Amino acid sequence: MLRQGEIAFDAGEVFGYFIYEPATSELVGGGGLPRWIGPGGIEIGYWVRSDRTGRGYATAAARALTEAAFDHLGVDYVEIHMDQANHASAAVPPKLGYLLDRSDDTSEILTSGQTGHGWVWTMTRERWRTIHRGPSS
Ligand SMILES: CC(C)(COP(=O)(O)OP(=O)(O)OC[C@H]1O[C@@H](n2cnc3c(N)ncnc32)[C@H](O)[C@@H]1OP(=O)(O)O)[C@@H](O)C(=O)NCCC(=O)NCCS
Repeated sequence: MLRQGEIAFDAGEVFGYFIYEPATSELVGGGGLPRWIGPGGIEIGYWVRSDRTGRGYATAAARALTEAAFDHLGVDYVEIHMDQANHASAAVPPKLGYLLDRSDDTSEILTSGQTGHGWVWTMTRERWRTIHRGPSS
């Protein structure tokens, strides 16, 4: 997994990271920026170890990845996709100011409990700057 991650990172296909908990230095999750959507945009994905959910780690990771996407990848927008049954994941983007853009009825069902219907949340560069840094920066 690490080797594949390095190859994908160096090829500019998926910029993946791990999440470490400051208090324990333990690996508690991961996140990344896969180039799965069209030019000008990038997607964010995240996961958190089941015994460490509910502590804001996914939200912190999504915040850092969004910032990195606009600062270092030159994209105009960032999207976060999830199945409509994934309420915990869907709680993350609105906390950062993402707007619910559309539903996606082409989502693949990868595990039981998924509906095959997705939500797509979007953040533009302008909105991010306005919300998180102020309009003049
Ligand atoms: C989704 C996931 C990443 C969330 O990680 P997390 O670190 O717990 O996320 P955060 O703590 O930053 O925020 C989660 C929010 O969801 C809320 N939440 C949790 N379970 C929920 C539920 N069943 N219904 C509604 N909201 C829920 C929490 O209350 C929290 O919101 P709050 O801060 O306003 O209280 C984690 O559950 C996970 O790894 N799931 C499996 C992998 C996955 O689904 N990844 C996303 C694929 S799109």
